[in-house]
Amino acid sequence: MRLFIAISPTDEIRKALVKAQNYLSRHGITGAYQTPENLHLTLAFIGEYPDPETVLDVMEETAFDPFQITYDHLGVFRESIVWGGIEASEPTENLAKKLRYELAKADIPFDNSTFTPHFTLARHANFSKGIPPVEIDPVSMMVQEITLYRSDRGKSGMIYTPIGAVGA
Ligand code: 2AM
Repeated sequence: MRLFIAISPTDEIRKALVKAQNYLSRHGITGAYQTPENLHLTLAFIGEYPDPETVLDVMEETAFDPFQITYDHLGVFRESIVWGGIEASEPTENLAKKLRYELAKADIPFDNSTFTPHFTLARHANFSKGIPPVEIDPVSMMVQEITLYRSDRGKSGMIYTPIGAVGA
């Protein structure tokens, strides 16, 4: 199964992210918008791996203290992806680093490309005329746990299902 480890947003951040999606959509930006329940911030993408229990064990090994993140801006990747970003956050960087270290130690494969914390809002987005100026009211949350998700291809896009969470 296809697996990844992520921060699941609180309802408050989820709502704020959906508000940004609605704003973009109202301004004519078409694309594949992520459904509200699919919104997440990936810390480590594992990909195909048969043994979620071992991944949960690794997550248990990755100790961290609860910390705050603040969603406060939008960003874009490769001229086709729009995402919600967080204020620079050392604890988030450290958590991603630790997780990746523990995954490597356990011989679990993962995508080791540069970590840019983000909540993907829309893929294949058409914003050739640019993103309309937007003011985001910052929203914070405490990260108290990390979630293991499986990713399956549904009829109308990917379905991300939480299969376990490990607390700080
Ligand atoms: P994305 O939203 O920027 O595409 C599930 O696919 C999650 O893992 C998504 O948040 C995705 O980021 C992230 N991810 C990171 N590396 C990935 C990879 N190599 N392939 C697919 N998804 C990846």
